[in-house]
Amino acid sequence: MQAFLKGASTQSSKIAKDKSAGSSGEKKQKPVPWVEKYRPKCVDEVAFQEEVVAVLKKSLEGADLPNLLFYGPPGTGKTSTILAAARELFGPELYRKRVLELNASDERGIQVVREKVKNFAQLTVAGTRSDGKHCPPFKIIILDEADSMTSAAQAALRRTMEKESRTTRFCLICNYISRIIEPLTSRCSKFRFKPLDDQIQEVRLLEISEKEKLKYSKEAIAALVRVSEGDLRKAITFLQSAARLNGEKEITESDVIEIAGVCPPKMIKNLLQICYNSTFDKLEIAVKNLIDEGYAATQILHQLHDVIIEESLSDQKKSVIAEKMADVDKCLADGADEYLQVLSLGSTIMQQADVNN
Ligand SMILES: Nc1ncnc2c1ncn2[C@@H]1O[C@H](COP(=O)(O)OP(=O)(O)O)[C@@H](O)[C@H]1O
Ligand SMILES: [Mg+2]
Repeated sequence: MQAFLKGASTQSSKIAKDKSAGSSGEKKQKPVPWVEKYRPKCVDEVAFQEEVVAVLKKSLEGADLPNLLFYGPPGTGKTSTILAAARELFGPELYRKRVLELNASDERGIQVVREKVKNFAQLTVAGTRSDGKHCPPFKIIILDEADSMTSAAQAALRRTMEKESRTTRFCLICNYISRIIEPLTSRCSKFRFKPLDDQIQEVRLLEISEKEKLKYSKEAIAALVRVSEGDLRKAITFLQSAARLNGEKEITESDVIEIAGVCPPKMIKNLLQICYNSTFDKLEIAVKNLIDEGYAATQILHQLHDVIIEESLSDQKKSVIAEKMADVDKCLADGADEYLQVLSLGSTIMQQADVNN
C-alpha cells in the first residue's frame, strides 16, 4: 500500500509538473495569483501544522480517513491541506469525480445540502481506478467556510453524514468552530490550525521572492510578516502587489506599509502625544488629517490598541480605554462615522491621560 501511494504521488506530481510546464510555455502572460501558484502541492509541503500533517499522513497510508473538521485563523493552510491530501489520495484523473468542493461563494442553503450533497454522497464508488490500480473506496466532500452555512443547512448534513459514511468522507473547514453545530463537531475529528510562526512565514516569503527573482530589503520581508499577523495568504498577496508596483526596483519597508494600508507608526505616536499633552482642538485636526489621508478607522483603532497596551498608564486607565475601544469597534462594524468614532476614542484617551483624573 505504501509503495502504491508513493508511486501514485510521484506519478501525480510528474503529471502536475508536465502540465504546469506546458501551460507556462503556452500562456506565459497569464498572471496567476501567487497564493495559487505557491499553494502546497502535497501534504508534506504544509508548514508548521505538524500534528495535522502527521495524522493525515497516517490516514493516507492506511487509506482510512475519518470525517474531518479543520478550524483556525485565515491563511494558515486549511484549504491547501485538504486539497493536497485529496490529490494524493486520488491522483489527478480521479480527483474530479471523487471530490466535491463547495465554498461560501456557492449556494449552500438547505436545498443544496438536500440535493447536491446528498446525490453526490449517494453515488457508490469502486476501489480501483480506470487503470486498474487501487484507490480508496470513498469520495470526499469539502465544505469550505462551513461557518457561513445556516444552522438549518448544517442540521440537514448530519443524517447524510452518518448514512453515507460507507462511501463518503466530509471535510468541514471554518474559522470559528463555535459556529458549527454540536452534532456535526462530534461526528468529526477536529484539527486546530495555528497562526503561522513569524519565521515560517519569512522562510516561505523568501522562497517565493527567490523564485520570482525579486529584489527586496530584509526589513521589507520583516514588515510583511508583521503586518499580516500570521496570515500567510495576506503576506503573499501583499508581496505580489509590492512586486507589481515596483517592477525592477527593490521592495522596501515603506512600500509594504503603503500597500498594507498600515498607518505609519509615527502618525500613531503623534496622535498619542497630542492626547497626552495638547488640546482638544489639536486632536480634532490630527484625527481629521488621518481620516482625510484615507487610513481606515479600524486600522487606526487596531494600531492604537497595540501601542496603548505598552504605554505606562495605570491598569485602571488602560482598562477604561480598552472598553472604549471595544465600543468603537462595534460602532464601526455597524457603520458609524469614522471621524467621530476615532475622535471619541481620542478624547477618552485624553481624559484618562490627564494626571488629575
Ligand atoms: N501551513 C502552510 N504551509 C505552506 N503554505 C501555506 C500554509 N498556510 C498558508 N499557506 C499559503 O497561504 C495560501 C493560503 O492558504 P489556504 O490554505 O488557502 O489558507 P486557509 O487556512 O485560509 O484556507 C496558500 O496558497 C499557501 O501558499
Ligand atoms: Mg480557506
